[in-house]
Amino acid sequence: MRTVNVPLGPRTYSINISAGLLDQLAPHCRSLEPGQKCAIISDRNVARKYARKCVGHLKEAGFEPVLITVAAGETAKSLKVVQYCYDQLSRHRLERRSFIIALGGGVVGDLAGFVAATYLRGVAFVQVPTTLLAQVDSSVGGKVGVNLKAGKNLVGAFYQPRLVLCDIDTLRTLPAREFRAGLAEVIKYGIIYDAALFERLERDMDRILAKDAAVLESVIARCCEIKAEVVSQDETESGLRAILNFGHTIGHAIEAISGYRKYLHGEAISIGQVAAARLSAMHAGLPKSHVDRIDALFRKGGLPTEIKLARQKLAHLHRAMTLDKKVTEGEVRFVLAERIGKVHWGQSVPVASIDRVLRQNS
Ligand SMILES: NC(=O)c1ccc[n+]([C@@H]2O[C@H](COP(=O)([O-])OP(=O)(O)OC[C@H]3O[C@@H](n4cnc5c(N)ncnc54)[C@H](O)[C@@H]3O)[C@@H](O)[C@H]2O)c1
Ligand SMILES: [Zn+2]
Repeated sequence: MRTVNVPLGPRTYSINISAGLLDQLAPHCRSLEPGQKCAIISDRNVARKYARKCVGHLKEAGFEPVLITVAAGETAKSLKVVQYCYDQLSRHRLERRSFIIALGGGVVGDLAGFVAATYLRGVAFVQVPTTLLAQVDSSVGGKVGVNLKAGKNLVGAFYQPRLVLCDIDTLRTLPAREFRAGLAEVIKYGIIYDAALFERLERDMDRILAKDAAVLESVIARCCEIKAEVVSQDETESGLRAILNFGHTIGHAIEAISGYRKYLHGEAISIGQVAAARLSAMHAGLPKSHVDRIDALFRKGGLPTEIKLARQKLAHLHRAMTLDKKVTEGEVRFVLAERIGKVHWGQSVPVASIDRVLRQNS
């Protein structure tokens, strides 16, 4: 087992990464010295596969778990579902010392974390992420929340978990497309922070795609370490944390113009990161050879790296980007790479350059 510490003063917690961790759920929870009552919040897909096991282990250890199951998919991140969870928690009389376990992907983590942050003004929260994206990204850093009709993640809080348990075995049942989407965030950590990780991914991509446990464990641990380092220097996103958005300005716009249907988040930011790499070559001195390596690694991971956009769609993309927070007067602020492993935040890029890198595909 690998352990990554997230040093946040009184909110410090650890992330444990290993195969077989679901079987250790109860002793890990016990170490938090909580009350007996707890709730597992999960979605239908994940609950079907893993909830019985978790409930069983918790009961054997003397806990009194309640299982709250929500629909799978982004629609569960809503205030209506939050209300449903509150009602279940109060019906089963969970109290201040009770705790909530999020068992699932980023959707369940964001939802359950928001419920934990607000029920009785906050109860202890344990993340058990079951997607690659959740293990390397959404379960670390304490952003929790739900969507409004007007947009994603518009209601939320910073609320740190007390513990994160990444059981690598759960990735075996994850659909291949979801697994690859998570890889887009893994590759991102190499680009923004760690050239050695990037090289390792170039070397070991086949073993990762084959879900080799030893490789996955160390790669996931390294990603968590990087996110923990960035977040602990900038817990509430006033500066450095922005580098985690590499490839996301264009990626989010691609998701938005395709109605959040055609591309998974990881696929959209794969295209976005390759575009950001090309912008970096134009405006930040990223060597062409690095752009090619970035493009090749996403492809090796089975991810899309280009998008064909008709003129009208390109206009939509601009509009979507200008709705993003990072835009002022025809210039969009980007995270750009100087080389693989080193990025900086805040460089303005003319909209015309964005057109140029995206038009290279059409
Ligand atoms: N809080 C943050 O910092 C942060 C960061 C990034 C993303 N997010 C959020 O994360 C969400 C996306 O998370 P996601 O990509 O994990 O999606 P998800 O939670 O919807 O999971 C993807 C799909 O995989 C299924 N699934 C999950 N684990 C499984 C397993 N082990 N076996 C079989 N099926 C499994 C789910 O039921 C779902 O259908 C978005 O809402 C996004 O806003 C949050
Ligand atoms: Zn992302």
